[in-house]
Amino acid sequence: MAILVTGGAGYIGSHTVVELLENNFDVVVVDDFSNSHPEVLNRIKEITGREFRFYEQNLMDKAKLEKVFAENSIDAVIHFAGFKAVGESVEKPLDYYYNNLTSTLLLYDVMRNNGVKKLVFTSSATVYGLNNKSPLTEDLPLSTTNPYGSTKLMIEQILQDLYVSDDEWSIALLRYFNPIGAHESGRIGESPNGIPNNLMPYITQVAFGKLEQLSVFGDDYDTVDGTGVRDYIHVVDLAKGHVKALEKHCSRRGVEAYNLGTGQGYSVLQLVEAFEKVNSVEIPYQITGRRSGDVAVCYADVSKASLILNWKTEKNIEDMCRDSWKWQSKNPEGYR
Ligand code: UFG
Repeated sequence: MAILVTGGAGYIGSHTVVELLENNFDVVVVDDFSNSHPEVLNRIKEITGREFRFYEQNLMDKAKLEKVFAENSIDAVIHFAGFKAVGESVEKPLDYYYNNLTSTLLLYDVMRNNGVKKLVFTSSATVYGLNNKSPLTEDLPLSTTNPYGSTKLMIEQILQDLYVSDDEWSIALLRYFNPIGAHESGRIGESPNGIPNNLMPYITQVAFGKLEQLSVFGDDYDTVDGTGVRDYIHVVDLAKGHVKALEKHCSRRGVEAYNLGTGQGYSVLQLVEAFEKVNSVEIPYQITGRRSGDVAVCYADVSKASLILNWKTEKNIEDMCRDSWKWQSKNPEGYR
């Protein structure tokens, strides 16, 4: 079976390509390296010992996308490609709506024209908005607080409508919680451009000495120690969730959303403490004000993914901290 992976050179995409190859899928990757690096392709081959086809191109180029479908017998698509920085999306809403929505619409049009109707789409827990109480279940009312999140929610809605119009489609909407960690080999991992926005890459860069100290955004939330609580999930567990979703949706029709998290929340300070302990390093931090748009607590109810996809996470917070640090310390400049 051949799977097209858009954004397959990115952080979650690359780990998913590894899992697909290790499960004997044929893989075709499309990526424009706008937020990734060509070296990741060599690393994936090195880890898996397997080859795959690669096209360096932007999804906005429909003619090129049609060529990818013409040259390969694609059976299903996992769609990762898109802009993903929350803060940047607030600064550049038009870029986010234009890029994320247009590229996605073009992709689904080309899929439909080629009779490819199996899709795994990367959504986000951000679609649960600010007002739902954790543990979050898939059937809660959805809302968003920034343009990035809105593109995820809009695409979910587009896919619901697509299925209503044509029930041959089979679509898994995967709502990620907070992916961290890296492949246990230390050869692939997250390589953010510039100063990281997210907690774990910030912590690893402080540990390495590239950044002076961590700012903890608020210690007055109603949580165990006042700092924000999130559901951190090891990126390899997350990647395996994609394979499970793909396998399930190859044999069923419909559109379903699944939470991919561990079901357990950790506070910022609990994560810092676990990181320090596992890796024997110190993370200097200071408490600063809350970051606007942050919820106090966000963790998943994972029973649907467990029941329907037969998937559950295997790695714990120590594994996540160890593997994040292994990646950062072996690759201080990422892939560069
Ligand atoms: N945090 C800090 N200091 C930092 C960075 C983060 O204290 O330098 C805190 C945040 O306030 C939050 C927690 O660490 O309490 C996690 O923050 P992240 O930025 O790592 O992750 P978020 O939960 O804000 O957002 C992530 C993804 C989004 C996605 C969302 C889904 O980055 O793309 O999860 O819930 F939409």
